Amino acid sequence: MRVVSEISELKKTISDWRQNKETIGFCPTMGTLHEGHMDLVRQSKNKATKTIVSIFINPTQFNDPKDFAAYPKNTEQDLRLCEENAVDLVFLPTVEVMYPPTNTPIQMTIPYLQNTLCGKTRPGHFEGVLQVVSKLFHLTEADFSFFGLKDYQQFRIISALVTELNFPLQIIGVPTKRESDGLAMSSRNLRLSQKDRETATLVPRMFQLAKKTLAGGERNLNVWKEILTDFLLTGSNVKIDYLEVVDPMSLQPITTLQGEVLLATAVFVGEVRLIDNEILVCPPVSK
Ligand code: PAJ
Repeated sequence: MRVVSEISELKKTISDWRQNKETIGFCPTMGTLHEGHMDLVRQSKNKATKTIVSIFINPTQFNDPKDFAAYPKNTEQDLRLCEENAVDLVFLPTVEVMYPPTNTPIQMTIPYLQNTLCGKTRPGHFEGVLQVVSKLFHLTEADFSFFGLKDYQQFRIISALVTELNFPLQIIGVPTKRESDGLAMSSRNLRLSQKDRETATLVPRMFQLAKKTLAGGERNLNVWKEILTDFLLTGSNVKIDYLEVVDPMSLQPITTLQGEVLLATAVFVGEVRLIDNEILVCPPVSK
């Protein structure tokens, strides 16, 4: 496995691969890797002949400097996990490599997909994601890139970027990997105290309750959201950032519980912000 920090080195390896007609799968990450990230790697290895993982805590996507400062870093362990999973190359740039001091700031935005969910409560976040991912796509010359559906809005936004601007690669969404108690795996889980880690299971249990109440015939959107909100708030240390029901493609709010809907939430458990979502199919109500 190669570990490179400089763009010139990355380009040299990619040029060699291209001469050998290799195809490139790319998994962008911010490190503190876990089995959710490794699912992206496994899918990449099935689809492409070479797999690149990038590890870069991108400062431009953190709207809260405290969150950026507290973001965990675990490079040694990350490299071990990548090696064990037969990643071909890890790109580990510094901030100066990605954003040289002489750079001209650029801002990208897809307003229609950013005015809801995390876009509303984390201003500037997706602008930073679009910026760094666009750079990484060009640097890695990826044929395929893998994104977790845990960050569903990010997946939709990147898919739209690639479609609308004709980036020459395919985006592949990877299902959310969960702990045995249902909590979505996340680098942020490490920051939860033992007690908050228990409280955090309210999130996956809320999705179970959502499905149960839908199956039980509840179709009043406001009543349904209230049941779910009340359930989350049984955790004393829980603050709801948002709990929304939107159309899975447009991410715009829906008014009736029909067909496929995306239930998405962001909650603070203590200081730690956790997100989760699921696409639910509303079963027809028997008359
Ligand atoms: P990060 O949070 O490190 O996530 C990297 C990738 O792993 C994302 O595509 C994310 O959706 C996926 N992922 C995280 N947890 C997952 C889980 N439990 N199951 C499946 N996939 C999971 O997302 C980012 O970094 C950044 O915004 C990035 C795209 C790298 C741009 O900086």
